[in-house]
Amino acid sequence: MTRPFPLTAALLALTLGCSYGEADKFRVIWNKTPESCATIGWCQVDGDPVGVRFIELDSQREGVGEIAERGLDHVTSHLDIDSYFVRLTGLKPDTLYQFQVLDSNHENDALTFRTAPAGAGEFSFVAGGDSRNHRDARQRANRTVALLQPLFVCFGGDMINRSSEGEWRDWLDDWQLTRSSDGHMVPIIAARGNHEGKHDIHAFFDTPNPDDYYAVQFGGDYLRVYTLNSNITRAGSQGQWLAQDLAANEGSHWKIAHYHHPFYPHQSGKREQHAQYNAWAPLFFKHGVELAVECDSHVVKRTWPLRPSTEPGSEMGFIRDDQNGTTFIGEGCWGAPLRANDDDKVWTRASGSFNQVNWIQVTPEKLTTRTVKVDSIDDVTGAIDPADPFKIPEGLEIWEPESGAAVTVLPLGDREIPIITARLKLIATEDQATGGTAVRMERAGGRVGEDYQIRYTLDGGEPVATSDLYTRPVPVGAAVRVRAALFRGAEIVTEPVEIEIGGE
Ligand SMILES: [Fe+2]
Repeated sequence: MTRPFPLTAALLALTLGCSYGEADKFRVIWNKTPESCATIGWCQVDGDPVGVRFIELDSQREGVGEIAERGLDHVTSHLDIDSYFVRLTGLKPDTLYQFQVLDSNHENDALTFRTAPAGAGEFSFVAGGDSRNHRDARQRANRTVALLQPLFVCFGGDMINRSSEGEWRDWLDDWQLTRSSDGHMVPIIAARGNHEGKHDIHAFFDTPNPDDYYAVQFGGDYLRVYTLNSNITRAGSQGQWLAQDLAANEGSHWKIAHYHHPFYPHQSGKREQHAQYNAWAPLFFKHGVELAVECDSHVVKRTWPLRPSTEPGSEMGFIRDDQNGTTFIGEGCWGAPLRANDDDKVWTRASGSFNQVNWIQVTPEKLTTRTVKVDSIDDVTGAIDPADPFKIPEGLEIWEPESGAAVTVLPLGDREIPIITARLKLIATEDQATGGTAVRMERAGGRVGEDYQIRYTLDGGEPVATSDLYTRPVPVGAAVRVRAALFRGAEIVTEPVEIEIGGE
């Protein structure tokens, strides 16, 4: 048994609130397989970076085996901030490691992190984003992470307001508040928002792809976390990668996505992201993504499980489907200016406007997501019980909307439900035979199978299963109101659309 290197420097620095030795702005980053890999990132106050030494700790926090050392793997210089990275590999799963950044002349803080379990583990993670502008709220949210001690954090972008050296230095310093009092660091999985520069996330978090979309695989085929980039083309190479990766990982028990822009924000001033919906929503449904974390609007929302649809009862291309749908949560309140939640949909489960992070507990049977109000975090008297880490600490303020404090998400198995995202277009055209007016009816903007039919009326009445079947442009002599809808057999599957046409 080996004594680990002392924690004194870390404890002293945290207690005194002073700078953290000669290296600072520490990050533990996950971007691949967190049961065996972790990237340590940091900046130097002075001195030259050398690498990292690390050792496994047992349950008594005693060192096990030999202390290992590893030199620098990667250096980035961005916005006048130099970041140094050591990519640790070959780690043991579900194991506490102590590490210390080595430089030319100082004894830096001894910190710890834990690797992910090898199989179907039980753990929690925190997800959220939008920490720009208000440092006090951001710091409270960071202290919430320190209190909850999740396995990792999914951060969905807009860390900073302007992509500048000063703002990033502040953010990286504030991130140290996610450390617990005994120097434990929570790994981050970082996504890009619209306030980051194109290279920020890649430079500061050593993401595996300069375009910042990638997947992190937990526990073999247990959980796959998709980090997507809503600030570049959603279809294109990103969409192709997502389709291929989801198809190649069908066996993953849980699939979770996080990214910056919501498909359809709960803030009326925010733009609807139709292209993102078209590129990603059918994939989420087809491959059973159970949970999606969205950001950007600075409001709070949670939806019922949703599948893409234009059926009656749908809104913005989604309909509630408790058995088969993706649950969406969000939308980013980690310190950004709060906005009004003034754009609920029929499928909104609850919405609000307050500073918060999402706390998600993962077991093989279910995901349980709660919204933690962070403004009162400094009044919390309790702490996470390591023996019962899902127990809510005494005094922690959990949002309790009418629909319930906790959202339970169940695994999505194989499904044979058609995706209906098609809309109908009615177009006035010329009748080839008479030169008069005719109406052409087309499917647009989506997909349907072969067994779908268009039925219509010419008197403004509701199309039903016995209405005329559309086969070719319909001549209209007098002025009429045409109404049409898509059917599968006797079942109407889209809202009717209409056009007034004809007559002179
Ligand atoms: Fe944003």
